[in-house]
Amino acid sequence: MRIELVEGDITEQQVDVVVNAANSSLLGGGGVDGAIHRRGGPEILTECRALRAGHYGKGLKTGEAVATTAGRLPARWVVHTVGPVWSGDEDRSALLAACHRNCLHVAADLGAHTVAFPAISTGIYRWPVESAAEIALEAVLSTLSTGSCSVELVRFVLFGTAAYDVFREQADALGVGGDSV
Ligand code: APR
Repeated sequence: MRIELVEGDITEQQVDVVVNAANSSLLGGGGVDGAIHRRGGPEILTECRALRAGHYGKGLKTGEAVATTAGRLPARWVVHTVGPVWSGDEDRSALLAACHRNCLHVAADLGAHTVAFPAISTGIYRWPVESAAEIALEAVLSTLSTGSCSVELVRFVLFGTAAYDVFREQADALGVGGDSV
């Protein structure tokens, strides 16, 4: 299993699965969500609408994950997940960990081998990057090391050097050596 950290744009990643930091409506938004829908094209939204018309009538719950086509992205699927909004008085870390675990399980069920994650919840949802990096890396490490997940490569795609540096620091602290383990 390999975990990579790169600085860049998640919509340019040539991987099997690109993870989207969506909202519960699944109908698009700003940040990563906006970038994926803009670059991926209308097919993604068409499939999101079908999900809302079917099993996800009430929207996608925080921490859950669901797949659609990746449309025109250089990927095969987008796995949408809803991160928790940061709260100073309620510990929502388990939900942020669940986003990563559930995205990997959905990706594995699709037969995906490579998955790119953004820094979920650290933009509009205001989660401090240091804390999000620790939770994300630990959740991915523990999910991949159980051996029950067939994903071989997880790439965290950080938007800007500040976020990259924080993830690098957390990865070093967790012993995720180099740019990959
Ligand atoms: N590639 C990689 N990372 C990106 C990109 C991109 N193209 N665009 C933004 N980011 C980074 C942001 O800098 C931030 O670090 O992704 C991280 C997550 O930020 P958001 O996209 O704002 O996601 P989040 O904080 O989870 O908030 C979700 O925002 O876009 C809406 O519809 C979405 O309502 C939902 C909310």
